[in-house]
Amino acid sequence: MTHAAEAPGAGARVRHYLQFSDLNADEYAYLFERAALIKKKFKAYEKHQPLSDHTMAMIFEKASTRTRVSFEAGMYQLGGSVVHLTTADSQLGRAEPIEDSAKVISRMVDLVMIRTYEQTKIEAFAAHSRVPVINGLTNEFHPCQILADIFTFIEHRGSIQGKTVAWVGDGNNMANTWLQAAELLGFTVHVSTPSGYEIDQSVAGLRSSESYKVFKDPMDACRDADLVTTDVWTSMGFEAENEARRKAFADWCVDADMMAVAKPQALFMHCLPAHRGEEVMAEVIDGPQSVVWDEAENRMHAQKALMEFLLLGRA
Ligand code: CP
Ligand code: NVA
Repeated sequence: MTHAAEAPGAGARVRHYLQFSDLNADEYAYLFERAALIKKKFKAYEKHQPLSDHTMAMIFEKASTRTRVSFEAGMYQLGGSVVHLTTADSQLGRAEPIEDSAKVISRMVDLVMIRTYEQTKIEAFAAHSRVPVINGLTNEFHPCQILADIFTFIEHRGSIQGKTVAWVGDGNNMANTWLQAAELLGFTVHVSTPSGYEIDQSVAGLRSSESYKVFKDPMDACRDADLVTTDVWTSMGFEAENEARRKAFADWCVDADMMAVAKPQALFMHCLPAHRGEEVMAEVIDGPQSVVWDEAENRMHAQKALMEFLLLGRA
């Protein structure tokens, strides 16, 4: 077996997953099928260890529960192991350049997952990495979450192509990633954000505005939607804006009235962690249309398919 970091000329042909558009529709179709198979094996206690003797470094510059547990448990289940680093307990917190960190870390492991602030930071790391780099959340994107969310939608309702997703809330990393996914996989996003928190098409990296529609009133965004989704009012790194956001977002709370104007079969999703009584009412997130626990679990199954794909290609 050759470790990715040892391969001659490593770097030039490495596949990274830094944003949703880094894979194409055909590769997503493969990943969703593969994730279903990997999940089935997990549920049947059947070993699936194609990554034995592989190591992943996980670098967290922000807090995490789901991302850490899903990647760490997932990598062990695939037969590999992980090294967990944070800003506080590594030289990253003492200003070692990101490029130097990438060169060093990627000589010792086969895969790197990073949760950080600016997208430019993970791009700089990837540009100097010999091994695939996965985005575990940046200020701009959260591709692993949308990978799991769409896998969850497919499990419950079949293909997402042609469907309508209502985004209620901040024009943040989750919103940007839903928009990229819509452009790539052929569905529509109805976006409603408070003014001052709109999505920025150039930050989201979209080719056009064809796959989304903007609504002033969140009720209008939810009308006839197949899926209603939201996220915290204040994302990690924006805590200084907390008070201003509390006021601005007061009407962007997904409640039973919003769910009532969506399709009767509509699902509710939230990447979690959630704040009941802020961006979503308990009656919705704990209600019958909510699939938030499946979404969280599916992070692990979908990411196992992703890690396998980035390191070994199609099975
Ligand atoms: N949804 C998500 O990424 O959760 P964590 O912040 O707990 O990793
Ligand atoms: N938008 C949120 C998602 C947390 C998983 C944040 O960036 O904090």
